[in-house]
Amino acid sequence: MTTSRFYALVPAAGVGARMGTNIPKQYMPLAGKPILLHALETFAALPAIAHTYVVVNADDAYIRDVLASEKHLSDRLTVIYDGGSTRQQSVLNGLHHLRERLADDDWVLVHDAARPGLSVDLVARLLEELREDAVGGLLAMPVVDTLKRADGEGRVEATVPRAGMWAAQTPQMFRYALLCRALEQAQEVTDEASAVEALGLRPKLVGGSPRNFKITLPHDIALAELYLKGIE
Ligand code: CTP
Ligand code: MG
Repeated sequence: MTTSRFYALVPAAGVGARMGTNIPKQYMPLAGKPILLHALETFAALPAIAHTYVVVNADDAYIRDVLASEKHLSDRLTVIYDGGSTRQQSVLNGLHHLRERLADDDWVLVHDAARPGLSVDLVARLLEELREDAVGGLLAMPVVDTLKRADGEGRVEATVPRAGMWAAQTPQMFRYALLCRALEQAQEVTDEASAVEALGLRPKLVGGSPRNFKITLPHDIALAELYLKGIE
């Protein structure tokens, strides 16, 4: 039996350039509340999650107002004002702030603020599948479309075999010390698993859900609202 604790770390220091709005996308309204609040409430609803940390930019102008009306979250959530210039750096900054609080073996679930469709059931599945795992892993979806690699002119250079291909989601769950080491040593990675893979380890793929997709473009808002209203 493991005695390690589970913590959530939510990077929310991006600007949402592809969304093209003035306010960063994680603060845009979705089904009645700011996008990032959905995932924060999911983690807060899980007794197994000891605490949630959200990483925002040092000059973030939104998070105080967003949390001011969410008093029920206050003892389950801490804001770290130390976002970096990349997602990787924001996560690493957050991890470094937790040095005194987390043990090397504690689990960290890193989750994009821009994935409001995360459900309690999905987190529970991840914890169940990985709690005794030596490496850790991530939620992911098997790729269903035929994959094409483009040349520089928008034409198909090759069809990539789909068998065994998965699309990565978050949370990505690794033990604290391993995750720090992996992200400190990795060159430029867009998720935690790639950094851990670079150490020669093989993170476990745990089945995710379409509802846990990442909001990136303006039309994603309407789709996310549909999922939150109840389609699975
Ligand atoms: N993120 C972060 N720090 C950064 C960049 C991104 O904490 N320097 C966070 C985002 O806030 C988001 C998650 O990482 O919750 C996933 O990143 P992405 O979807 O790429 O968000 P943005 O970088 O904000 O969007 P874009 O790439 O369109 O600018
Ligand atoms: Mg980005």
